[in-house]
Amino acid sequence: MLQDKITTLTSEINAFSTTNASELEQFRIKFLGTKGIIKDIFEEFKTVSVEEKKVLGKVLNEFKQITETKYNELKEFIDTHSTQSETAKIDLTLPGEGFEIGSRHPLALVRREIVEIFAKLGFSVAEGPEIEDDWHNFSALNFPPEHPARDMQDTFFIKKDSENGDIALRTHTSSVQVRMMENGKPPFRAIMPGRVYRNEAISARAHCFFHQIEGLYVDENVSFADLKQTLFYFVQELYGEGTQVRFRPSYFPFTEPSAEMDISCSICKGEGCQMCKGSGWVEILGCGMVDPNVLENCNIDSKKYSGFAFGMGIERIANLKFEIKDLRLFSENDVRFLKQYKSSLI
Ligand code: DAH
Repeated sequence: MLQDKITTLTSEINAFSTTNASELEQFRIKFLGTKGIIKDIFEEFKTVSVEEKKVLGKVLNEFKQITETKYNELKEFIDTHSTQSETAKIDLTLPGEGFEIGSRHPLALVRREIVEIFAKLGFSVAEGPEIEDDWHNFSALNFPPEHPARDMQDTFFIKKDSENGDIALRTHTSSVQVRMMENGKPPFRAIMPGRVYRNEAISARAHCFFHQIEGLYVDENVSFADLKQTLFYFVQELYGEGTQVRFRPSYFPFTEPSAEMDISCSICKGEGCQMCKGSGWVEILGCGMVDPNVLENCNIDSKKYSGFAFGMGIERIANLKFEIKDLRLFSENDVRFLKQYKSSLI
């Protein structure tokens, strides 16, 4: 009986193999553990006759030996191979895994440069909401009620409400001027960067959203000469010493007098090229003296205070700096385009 049992168990042990440490541990517990099979067999051995003991004693010892040898061999194999494979995984000669650092968006680079130039003149940065009411986007800025800019063609209206005023996506950052003046006391000296929206068909030259920087300076005795000097300094800083400027009379509801400012073409230096359409000049911004009506709409005494304002498109400035001819590139997020504008400013 016991003999048969041992024979079956021996073939089970011979057939057993594993490279898995926890399976081997199960094996050890099953056969060699304190409550294991070998322990049981030795208990059973005590009950057999003296005659049988003579034969079985040897068989039993051999069986124990086989089991222990099997266990030790497998254990050694697992131990050596598991440590070897861990080391094999690490190849110290392999080069490190490189990763690319992203780059600033060209519009962010230009915005930052502009902010830094005006900071030197004491201009702080202010922001306002992109969803605006009629008052801040139009009425307070002296837009006549039937002004075409209020028309559906230009403005994305969110809610038409003749009683409380329409709600729309702001069409320009001039709305932030109003918010700033309503909520503070002069002097004001700030620039206001932000995204604006216009209901235009998307093409290389027009987009339904773009970015502007508005500027405002209000104090006692601010004159047009201050406006010219500020913008002249700005242009020298941005496009380099010697860049020419010229002011052309223009019209904006919120400034009087109003002007558009051109600079000598930064690409051909006035020689005439595609960017300036051969004229040697490119328009970069609108500006003027804040209309007294706007000051009064914001509860500022227009007899005591005067100010100037200006507004420019960031895409336009970036076009001139980087010669990007298609506006759509700015919002397509094509990494091949974006990674050309690596900057030392992270
Ligand atoms: N808001 C004007 C626009 O979107 C730009 C502008 C022109 C802003 C003249 C000004 C300004 O502050 O004085 O076209």
